[in-house]
This record gives sequence, structure tokens and C-alpha cells, in this order.
Amino acid sequence: MVEFRTIKGTHDLLPETLKFWKTIQFEITNIMEQYGYDEIRTPTFENTELFIRGIGTETDIVNKEMYSWVDQAGDTLTLKPELTAPIARAYVQNQLGNKHPLHRLYYFDTLFRRERPQKGRQRQFYQFGAEAIGSYKPEQDAEIISMAYHIYKNFNIKDMSVRLNSIGSPEIRVKYLDLLKNNLEKHIGDLCENCNKRLQKNALRIFDCKNQICQDLFDDRAPLIFDSISYEDSQHFDSITCILDAMDIPFKHDKKLVRGLDYYSHTTFEITSKTLGAQDALCGGGRYNNLIEKIGGKSTPAVGFAAGVERLILAIDKIKAIESTPDIYFITISEEASIIAFKLANTIRKKCNKKVILETLGRSLKAQLREANRMDVKHVVIIGEEELEKNMGTIKNMATSDQVQISFTDMVNFFNQ
Ligand code: HAM
Repeated sequence: MVEFRTIKGTHDLLPETLKFWKTIQFEITNIMEQYGYDEIRTPTFENTELFIRGIGTETDIVNKEMYSWVDQAGDTLTLKPELTAPIARAYVQNQLGNKHPLHRLYYFDTLFRRERPQKGRQRQFYQFGAEAIGSYKPEQDAEIISMAYHIYKNFNIKDMSVRLNSIGSPEIRVKYLDLLKNNLEKHIGDLCENCNKRLQKNALRIFDCKNQICQDLFDDRAPLIFDSISYEDSQHFDSITCILDAMDIPFKHDKKLVRGLDYYSHTTFEITSKTLGAQDALCGGGRYNNLIEKIGGKSTPAVGFAAGVERLILAIDKIKAIESTPDIYFITISEEASIIAFKLANTIRKKCNKKVILETLGRSLKAQLREANRMDVKHVVIIGEEELEKNMGTIKNMATSDQVQISFTDMVNFFNQ
């Protein structure tokens, strides 16, 4: 019986899986760098207050999903459940705004949310994403959306759809929410329990309800926030759609797409794939022009997205992992031979940039050859009795079976050719 197991909603990434993950990570980060984004990394935990203020007290994340604790010094800390608030914090703390007017940042990181685990939903999961901080312009929104789309297209994701909306500026929200509540109050008895609660505390989120009766009622009775936004905000939205059209990115204007975090304003978007089942959101994002000011910085516009890595992997049909087989395996049969091999391997790794494996199990010559074959190495270097006497190693090309003897001093030059 195994005594210790991974915690519910977490998983090990074993080397075989990680080979595949690394290929994916390489392709994703490569695309984001092609768009001029630079990597940023923030700590695994932050002050709880950052998330409360940034994401909002009435959101699912803050209400029930954060892993928080009080440490020995009495500080209340939280494992990061998302990255937009930490990046906004890093932007303010490091005064990035004074250095350049625009920062294009990307990440590939691990996050924690205490959700009910299911396919595509873990308690520890990975996200990649990007935040562009500094521009109000619709071109910036279009760049973020098209970059996310480009990444999924690169992996040939099937049955993909982009949904897009604008929830306007926060100034219109109070008036709109009053209107929404007034319209739905007469129908409170017909709404599900969850919608009733949300209507009191976080009314915008009612549109996320999965109950068909509620959705039908919203279709009939609920005013939509897009119809309340200002003329300028609708122009902003139209400009984004023009760029997406010009780039042949198909999208649907979904007026019910409000997203579940309080920091959003103006643009909201999601990319989904039917292949994923219930948790169909590949990624989500939008504008958050007020977040930086809310956490103590200067008013700074920003837009970004984040995407679940596990969900991307579920949606990927086939991709060949980049295999990196070892270049050289040193076959050694004594301690003296091992010491020479250790020194040579170090120099070859450094000077020839090769992947070199040493024998550390003390196996027989035959067993070591078998291991080198299994690893599919390009060359083996045998250092046996005879080689030690001659101060030479026998180099065997595993593909052709050609063999040469090369002195230990010339070996680095041989592998450098
Ligand atoms: P989010 O919608 O909470 O947005 O998460 C983004 C994506 O992360 C989801 O679409 C999904 O693919 C993945 N995801 C979320 N929760 C889980 C989970 N428990 N297990 C596996 N995957 C999950 C944000 O996080 C915002 N910070 C996005 C953003 C960036 N907005 C602006 N900039």
C-alpha cells in the first residue's frame, strides 16, 4: 500500500509527460516572444489582501477557493489563485511605469484554487498568459486576442470559438445593476437559488448560470450591459472587431460574457473548445483599466489573458514531443576509468554543449551497452583496461557501428567537430 499520495486535485508530472509539456511550453513562449512579450515571474504566495482588493470579495475565487493561512509573524498570506493581480503588484512595486510607457509581459506558472476537481479542473494547475500594461487603444486588445488565437491555431485545436464583449467602464455599472435588479426582481421566484444569491451580491455573474430556466428568463427579461455602455466604449469595441475581421479571426459577440473577476472593464473575451466537455474555457481575459490604481498605483490601462495548460493539453490532438536523446554515454568498468570519464564529461558538456551520461550503477560492460542502446545515444565512449593502459577511449558511433580510438587529450576536439 502507498502511504503518501498527491493531494486531491493535484498531480505529478512524470518525465515522459514533461517531455511533451516542455515542447508545448517552448512553442507557446516562442509565439509570445514573437509578439514582443517578455517573461515575468512573481512569488508563489502574496498578501491575501492583494487578491481581496484586486479580484473582489464577492467572487468565487476570493469567497471559497483561496488557500490562505496566517504565518508565524501573523501575516495573512495566500497561494496565488491567478496572476493578473500579482503582476499589477509587481508593476507598481518596481515602478515599471516610469521606465517605459508600455510593458508586454508573459508567464507560464502554477496556480492554486480550491475548486471541485474534475476533467480540466484541478486545485493546482498551470496557466500561461500575457498582460499588456500601458495602452488604452483597441489595437492592444486586438493584439492580445489574436496572440491567444494564434497559439491555439498553432496546435490545431478543433471546434474552437472566440466570444467577445464589452462591459464598458465601471461608472455605468451602478446604474446598469439597478436596472438589472429592477427587471429581475419580479421574477425572483423563478430564478435558481444561486442566481438569487448572486442578484443580491454580484449581480453581473448571474449570466454565468448553467440553468436553462434562468437563461431563458435572462433572454426575455434581463437588460444586457453592452446596451448600456457609452458611445466611446462601443467605438472601442468596434475597432477591436474591425482588426479581428481583417485578420480573419472568427468571433461571436456574446453580450452575456461578463467574466467572473471584479477587475474587468471594457473588453471581455473567452476562447472555448467543444472538445473539452463541461470545462470548455481554454482561456479568458479582458481589460482591467482600474486594477493598478485600486492596488495603490497610478491609473494605468491594461489588458491580458490567461489560459489553462492542462486544458490545452486535453484539447490537443497529436503533437510530437521534442526528444532530446543523449549524445554520449561513457562506459566505464573501474573507479579509475570513472574518474577519467567524470572529468572528460564535464569538459565535453561545457566546451561542446553535448548531453553526456555517466555510469553510476557499476553495471557490466554488456549491461551498459544495452542501456546506451535503450537511450538511443549517438556515441558511446568505452574506457576499459586496454584503454586505460593506452590513455585512450574507444568511441563507437551507435548508428554505423564505426569505432575509433582517440587519446583522452584529443577527445574534446573530436566531439567539437
Ligand atoms: P480565469 O478565467 O479565472 O482568468 O482563468 C483563465 C483560464 O485558466 C481558464 O480559462 C482555464 O483555462 C484555466 N483555469 C482556471 N481555473 C482552473 C482550474 N481550477 N484548473 C485548470 N484550469 C483552470 C484568470 O485567471 C485571469 N487572471 C485572466 C486574465 C489575465 N485576465 C486579464 N489578464
